Amino acid sequence: MSSSPVARQPGYANGHYGNHHHGNHHDGTARDTNENQRAPIREFGHEYHWSNRLVVPHDPSELGYQHYQHELFRHCLGEQLTFGSLPPVGFDEYSILDVGTGSAIWAIEMGKCFPQADIFGIDISPALFPRPFNVPSNVGLFVRDATQPWSMGDFNLIFMRDLVGGGIRDWRGLLAQAFSHLRPGGQLEFAQLDCFLSAGAQSTESQGTFGPRSAEHRARFMELCGSQFITFDPIPLVVPCLCAMPGVHFVAQQVLYLPTKVRDGACSEEIKRVAMVQKILPLLLENRSLRLFRRSGMRERTVRELIQGVLEEQQDPAYDAYLKMTIIIATKMVWEAT
Ligand SMILES: C[S@@+](CC[C@H](N)C(=O)[O-])C[C@H]1O[C@@H](n2cnc3c(N)ncnc32)[C@H](O)[C@@H]1O
Repeated sequence: MSSSPVARQPGYANGHYGNHHHGNHHDGTARDTNENQRAPIREFGHEYHWSNRLVVPHDPSELGYQHYQHELFRHCLGEQLTFGSLPPVGFDEYSILDVGTGSAIWAIEMGKCFPQADIFGIDISPALFPRPFNVPSNVGLFVRDATQPWSMGDFNLIFMRDLVGGGIRDWRGLLAQAFSHLRPGGQLEFAQLDCFLSAGAQSTESQGTFGPRSAEHRARFMELCGSQFITFDPIPLVVPCLCAMPGVHFVAQQVLYLPTKVRDGACSEEIKRVAMVQKILPLLLENRSLRLFRRSGMRERTVRELIQGVLEEQQDPAYDAYLKMTIIIATKMVWEAT
């Protein structure tokens, strides 16, 4: 576990974005000074990371998706930014890491809520990083591959949301590395929105209540992830993995099934939530499926027709589909057994 101070040399051109001035134990230099100059891969009207590792784009469409998703998580968390409880606002010496920060919307809002905390966002790509003047002074954004050994210090809170898309192959390795970088009493939060629709908690997938096109999309999605060794649903392995971490104190999981259409007797909160889900769905389906399905040889038109079919089913009263949201938290013991 690394907790020794490391000199920080921030600088926009070196892959550090933001005006971060707090703390002194995180290395803010870039590993890849050319990252920002590399041309993205352009396919299907989208832009993808130059490395060809990712099937999820880094472009305005994905920026829109990340913002809608953030709104949805906030709504489901009662306008909080985390599921786990945090110390009172103003808590000093608090250090937070957002892994795979993307547009940094979460890191920036955390920075505003906790002006005395140090917030760090890392991402393999800076493509969606906001301009430095939109980043609070206690937030720093860095280009880093989270699958490489971390040269950063330790954190009170490590946040990971929606890291799917091909950039992480070894989820256990990532979780182990993150957990080892938690300070005693620190907390890891892992959040995920499924990339496909499901039947609700009460039904089984085989009942077909969520529509034949939605079922086909889901089945193909899983099959293609398997054949391309991409885990789009890491949730089943996260809880067992965290429970086995040395020094783990407590693990909790919350699962919400969000309806895609308004049900009879829905309250205003549910109506608002459904509107958010409906805004997300077209972007979710396109940005997560298009490149994955195309890679397996499916024609772009066929993929788009399948997505359109899934969306049309959401208007059909015969079907009842849900988007699954999962949030997992794990805390580390304050005192580690020796
Ligand atoms: C779908 S976005 C989610 C962004 C953000 N966490 C949110 O919830 O708004 C996933 C992000 O993870 C990043 N990512 C994927 N693999 C990564 C890796 N190995 N190291 C760092 N970032 C990675 C992607 O570049 C992308 O920006």
